[in-house]
Amino acid sequence: MKRVFSIGNPIKTDAALQEEIWQSVSAEQTMEHLPYLQVEETEEGYRFSYPLNDTTRIYGLGEQVRGINKRGFEYVSLCSDNPNHHENAHSLYGAHNFLVVSDGPCCFGLFLDTPSAVRFDCGFWNMDELVIHVPSKDMKVYFMEEDGLLEVIKAFRQLIGKSYVAPKWAFGYQQSRWGYMDEGDIRNVAKRYKELDIPLDAIYLDIDYMERFKDFTIHPERFPRFEELVADMKAEGVHLVPIIDAGVKVEEGYPVYEEGVALGHFCKNAAGEDFVVGVWPGFVHLPDMLEPDARSWFGHWYKVLLDKGIEGFWNDMNEPALFYSKEGLEQFFAYMHNLEGKNLDVNDVFGMRWMADNLANSQEDYKRFFHKVEGRMVPHDQVHNLYGYMMTRAAGEAFDEMEPDKRILLFSRSSYIGMHRYGGIWTGDNQSRWSHLLMNLQMMPSLNMCGFIYTGADMGGFGENSTEDLVIRWLGLSMFTPLMRNHAAIGTREQELYQFPHTDIMRNLVKLRYGLVPYLYSEYMKSILEETLMFTPLAFAYPEDARAAEVEDQVLVGESLMIAPVYVQNATGRYVYLPEEMTCYRFRSLEDYDVMELERGDHYLRAALGEVLVFVRPGHGLPLYTGNAGHVTEIPSYAECEGEGYAFLTGKGKNITYLLYEDDGISKAYSERKDWTPIHKQEDL
Ligand code: GLC
Repeated sequence: MKRVFSIGNPIKTDAALQEEIWQSVSAEQTMEHLPYLQVEETEEGYRFSYPLNDTTRIYGLGEQVRGINKRGFEYVSLCSDNPNHHENAHSLYGAHNFLVVSDGPCCFGLFLDTPSAVRFDCGFWNMDELVIHVPSKDMKVYFMEEDGLLEVIKAFRQLIGKSYVAPKWAFGYQQSRWGYMDEGDIRNVAKRYKELDIPLDAIYLDIDYMERFKDFTIHPERFPRFEELVADMKAEGVHLVPIIDAGVKVEEGYPVYEEGVALGHFCKNAAGEDFVVGVWPGFVHLPDMLEPDARSWFGHWYKVLLDKGIEGFWNDMNEPALFYSKEGLEQFFAYMHNLEGKNLDVNDVFGMRWMADNLANSQEDYKRFFHKVEGRMVPHDQVHNLYGYMMTRAAGEAFDEMEPDKRILLFSRSSYIGMHRYGGIWTGDNQSRWSHLLMNLQMMPSLNMCGFIYTGADMGGFGENSTEDLVIRWLGLSMFTPLMRNHAAIGTREQELYQFPHTDIMRNLVKLRYGLVPYLYSEYMKSILEETLMFTPLAFAYPEDARAAEVEDQVLVGESLMIAPVYVQNATGRYVYLPEEMTCYRFRSLEDYDVMELERGDHYLRAALGEVLVFVRPGHGLPLYTGNAGHVTEIPSYAECEGEGYAFLTGKGKNITYLLYEDDGISKAYSERKDWTPIHKQEDL
C-alpha cells in the first residue's frame, strides 16, 4: 500500500518523483486514512504517534548518531554545522525524514516531506511511544506498507528516484587534509604515495587553494600553474577535487559577487538588501539556491574549474554554516561592552559564554534572511533544510548541461532527501575516536535507506589526533564504503598513510580495497539501478532471526558479503554472530589470507591489527582482482580480460554464480542486466 497525503500548502521540495502512481488522499481524509498512526493537530503543526512494544524497531533517518535501530532517542531534522557527533547530538548536517517501523509482521515506512525541523521522538520521552512532531501545517506525508523491510525500502527509493552515480575512479583511495597550502604540498602527497606504492586516485583541495576563500578562484601565488598541476596529476592517475563553499565573498571587483548582486541572486534581508553573514572569507552573501535562476547561475560557475581539467567537487558549509551575521555581531559587541568594568557574577559569565557560543549558526539569524520561492519571499528558517540540497542540485543540473555524457564527482555536507539524485554526501566533521568508527558503520545502512549510496566518513577522523591503530582499523571499514577518503583538520596530527611507521600494513589494506573495487562498484550500481541497499542491516536480510535483529556492529555489503570490523582499541579479535553458515576470509593482504568454514551462531574470531574479516554467504561469490593496480583505471574489466587476474572467492555451495556489473565508469551509459557478466565457480564450469 502506498499513499500520499498533502496537508496545507506544502513547499515544493522535489524530493519525490513518482508520486502519480501513489494513491492520493485529500486533506480532509487525512486523519482516517493514515494507517496505524494517530494524528493530532497541534497549535504549531501535527503530532503523529505510534505505540511501541518490546520488539518494535525503528530504522532510517539517514545521517544521525546512535545505532542502526533508532529506537530510544530523539532525533531532530535540522541541518546543522555540528562537529560534535557525540551520542546525544540530535542533529547533524543532513535532514532525512524517512523512517521505517518494524513491528512483528507489520512494517511500514513514513516520509514527511517538509523542510521544517521535524522531531522524531523514537521512545525518548516515553519508551513505549514513537512521537513525531512536525512544527508546520504544510507538508506531504508518504506512507508505504509492504510485506518486508526491503520491500518498504524499494517502494521508497522508487518514489524518490535513482541515486546519483559517481565516476568509478571515485572508488579509489582518496587523500585530503585541510592544510595543504600550495602546489608543492599537493605534489608531495602524490609523490609520497607513489614512492610507497600505495594506490591513490584523488587528492582534495581544501579552502586554501582559493584566493582568500573566494569560490571559483585560484590562489595565484600558491597555485601559479594550476592547469598544469591538474594535468600532471591526472597523467599520474590522480584527480584533484576542490571544495566549493556556499557563501560568496563580498568584494568589489570579484566577478561572482558583482554578477550575483547585479542579477539579484543573493538572499535578502527584511529590507530587501543582500543579506550579509560571516564565513571563511569574512562577509559573504548567500546565493538563493532555492530560486531556479539563481541556482542555474551558481551552477554554471563550476565551469571555471571544469575548464581547468577538474572532474570532481565537494560542496561545503551549505547548511548554511554561519560564523555570524552583521546583526548578531552588533548585539554581541553591545552585550560585551555592557559588561566591561563590571564585577561579573555567575549570570554575567554564563551569559557571556552563551552569547559567544550562539554567535555561529544562530537560529535567530536563520530568520533574518529570505528566499524567493514561487514568487513569495520566504524566511530562511522555513526552508532551511533545503539549502545544501539546492546548492548541490545547482551543481548537478549545471553538470548535466555542461558535461551531459560525463559523470562528475560531487558530494555535499548538508543534504535533504531529493539531493541523493544530484550527489553523494560525506558525513562531516567527525573525530578521531573509536566510537566514530562504529558510528560510520552504523550510519551506512540508514543513509542507503534514504537514497544516499555514494557516501563515507572522514577516514581516520577529521578532528583530534588520530592514532596509527585507529587509522588501520578505520581502513578496515572504509575499504568497503564507496567514498574512501582520509581527511583531517588543520592543526591535528598528520594522517596521510605515509605519516605512520607501518606503511606495509596500510599498503596491504589499500591494495585489498582495489581488489574489492570490481565487486563494490558492481554492488553499488545494482543498489542504484535496482533500488536496494548496498549496506544491509542483518535484521533486514534475516527477518526471522531475532538475534540478527539486535546486531549493531555487522552489516551485509552487497549480496555476497558480511563485514564485522574491529572498532575497539587493542582488541585482537571480536565476537561475530553468523545468522547462517558462512565462509570467513581473514585477509592480511590480497595474497595472504586464511579461510574458515563457520557454522551459524556465535564465534570469537581473531583479527589482529592489519587483518580484516570478510564473510561470504553460502551460495554467493566474491570476484577479487588480485593484480597490482595503482589506480582504479588500472583494474581491467573482467569481461574484457576474461577473468585473467581475478580470483573468485565463494561461500559454501555448488553452482555458485555471481553477476558482475561493469561499465566504462565515466559515461552515463549504464549497462543493463542482460549485459552483466556471470562469474561461475571454477569446478562447476
Ligand atoms: C568544514 C568541512 C571540513 C573542511 C573545513 C575547511 O569544517 O566540514 O571538511 O576541511 O570546513 O574547509
